[in-house]
Amino acid sequence: MEAPTMFGPQTVAPDTTAIVSYSPLPGLGLLPVNSFVIHAAEPVLVDTGLPMLKDEYMKALGAVIDPADLRWIWLSHMDADHLGSLEAIQALAPKAKIVTNFLGMAKMMLRSFDVSQVHLLEPGGHIDAGDRKLVPLKPAYFDAPETVGFFDTKTRVLFSADAFGCLMQETAAEAADIPEEAMFDGMAPWAAIDAPWLGMVDRQVFGRVLADIERLDPSAIIAGHLPVARGVTKRVLASVDAAVGGGRIAAPDRETIEALLAGAPPPALAA
Ligand SMILES: [Fe+2]
Ligand SMILES: [Fe+2]
Repeated sequence: MEAPTMFGPQTVAPDTTAIVSYSPLPGLGLLPVNSFVIHAAEPVLVDTGLPMLKDEYMKALGAVIDPADLRWIWLSHMDADHLGSLEAIQALAPKAKIVTNFLGMAKMMLRSFDVSQVHLLEPGGHIDAGDRKLVPLKPAYFDAPETVGFFDTKTRVLFSADAFGCLMQETAAEAADIPEEAMFDGMAPWAAIDAPWLGMVDRQVFGRVLADIERLDPSAIIAGHLPVARGVTKRVLASVDAAVGGGRIAAPDRETIEALLAGAPPPALAA
């Protein structure tokens, strides 16, 4: 794959459709980039895809739902790979409220997005989508402090934003299809790039965060950068835990970055 590619809609859980794309990262592999439609009584769009795939994204979204029917647009955080088609969707979805928190809204304003429809998530609050609640949850790790995932109380699906992202050597419909070793080999470098501060956390404290997710027992984990994880929650959590404990979480150094740019396997990440 030479360039970001739209794969289109995929049903990933009850009431939950992913809009799946992949982006090649030179020297590292393929990164899935997903957004989601939750077919609630009040339909919810979760993130809005890659900026360079705007036309393909809008076509794929239109095949899933008429944007005019959207009542909520949940923005996990304000990174470009989650906001690609936001303005185009806002123009077609006048009834949709944008869900973010105070910092998320401030970042939208800094980038001159229309914030007139923002619905601010208050601490302890939730979104009532008519037939279910979306309960905000801080993902296990993140690359922007405004990040907010959620737990769908009807389907028990957990949306984890950037957490559990995985660099892949080939596409897969489900996380369960990724071989165990490949999942570890893909999650460790992604975590090192996306959340290098994981190398500074107390492993026991982080272990408790992961244990909380296991206790939550989601029916599926959906994420921005991982194919849907159904029936493999333990494997996903163990891969991240091993990556943190194995000392492989470190910010890429200059040698690594130069290797990446040259298209060679990055030394620090290939260890
Ligand atoms: Fe991000
Ligand atoms: Fe992301």
